[in-house]
Amino acid sequence: MPLIPWPANYLLGNPGMDNTHAEFAALVNSLAVAEGREFQALFLALLDHTGDHFGAEEALMADTAFPSLEEHRAEHRRMLGDLRALGQRAVQGRITLAHNYVTEHLPAWFAVHAATMDSALAAHLALHENQVVNAAR
Ligand SMILES: [Fe+2]
Repeated sequence: MPLIPWPANYLLGNPGMDNTHAEFAALVNSLAVAEGREFQALFLALLDHTGDHFGAEEALMADTAFPSLEEHRAEHRRMLGDLRALGQRAVQGRITLAHNYVTEHLPAWFAVHAATMDSALAAHLALHENQVVNAAR
């Protein structure tokens, strides 16, 4: 069974967020079974992807005046900081910590983050889109 079974309960109804999360889940699932150089390369790809993924969500939050932007961004920064520190070790060949983090921490983190902060953002974006549509009528 993959570490992050997709889509399971993860779909938020926002196609952009759901597509990004599908890619994130696929990367995490590939990392779970990767070793050595393949693991290093995939971990760096995850780091890149996560930077873009969080950046895209933060841009949506800023564009639509999402009330919990600061809290959500702080959580993204904390997670990216962890991934960067682990990535630095991984490129030096020390992949054990990064591997443990991927298998023991990331799936649970994603489950909670998607169900709470990201789901609140998706609901806010849907509301915002309706307001824009109604205002245009
Ligand atoms: Fe998020």
